[in-house]
Amino acid sequence: MQKLIGIIGGTGEEGIGIASRLVQSGENVCIGSRDPNKSDIISRKLRKINPNLKIQSATNLETAKISDLLFLTINPNGIEQLISDIKPYLDNKIIVDTTVPLKYNNGKFSHIEWPNGSSSLHIQALIPSAKVVSGFHTISAKDLNNLNKEINQDVFLASNDKVAKTKIFKIVNKIPNLRAIDCGNLDVSKYLESCTLLLLNINKIYSKKNKTPIHTGLKLSGLYKTENL
Ligand SMILES: NC(=O)c1ccc[n+]([C@@H]2O[C@H](COP(=O)([O-])OP(=O)(O)OC[C@H]3O[C@@H](n4cnc5c(N)ncnc54)[C@H](OP(=O)(O)O)[C@@H]3O)[C@@H](O)[C@H]2O)c1
Repeated sequence: MQKLIGIIGGTGEEGIGIASRLVQSGENVCIGSRDPNKSDIISRKLRKINPNLKIQSATNLETAKISDLLFLTINPNGIEQLISDIKPYLDNKIIVDTTVPLKYNNGKFSHIEWPNGSSSLHIQALIPSAKVVSGFHTISAKDLNNLNKEINQDVFLASNDKVAKTKIFKIVNKIPNLRAIDCGNLDVSKYLESCTLLLLNINKIYSKKNKTPIHTGLKLSGLYKTENL
């Protein structure tokens, strides 16, 4: 049976964008939300991308229960409460953490510090039995949601669990024009989360210069044999 990918907090721009690209590449998804009416609206839109797939919607709790692996795309303010709510269903599950805790002050984006050094490390500490893969931090929701756009960017992945990382690696490489990059173990997530801040600050500068919204992304040069881990 084909796997089901749950998107926890899948009603925000990043969750919808990731879900849309997954559906485009042939994956079954379940959109999770605190409010099942919200997730139902999103799942109806996703069915139009590929009516042949099994697109579902549910609460975050139900999504965690029925999905084979999860993407976490919630607002960082809700992480601790959410993890505590859905914890019974996270044992041994792969969780792709996309979250970037940040603040905006005096015209600049900067980090909110987490107890364990990064959002992904904090989540891993909250659920030691889960297989946290840190990723997608540098892919803008605006780009993901523009399905006519060839994104042509790298998706940086870090995890302490090599099998989990390999699974996500394969899922990413099925999405047209995205390339998965192995960044090592979960410690590296602090750098991945910081990359978003760099890009957001660059976006701000060049949106002003170009008088139009800019969404930058990253693609590495100089790599060979990136298809497999
Ligand atoms: N936007 C981007 O371009 C981008 C790029 C890279 C990474 N990210 C990261 O991806 C994540 C999602 O980004 P986004 O822009 O889609 O964020 P968002 O719109 O602020 O939040 C996404 C969803 O989180 C849920 N949520 C909000 N507050 C919550 C709370 N207190 N407790 C539980 N759930 C809550 C909401 O879903 P319900 O109301 O339906 O429950 C909301 O639709 C963020 O952590 C962000 O740092 C975003």
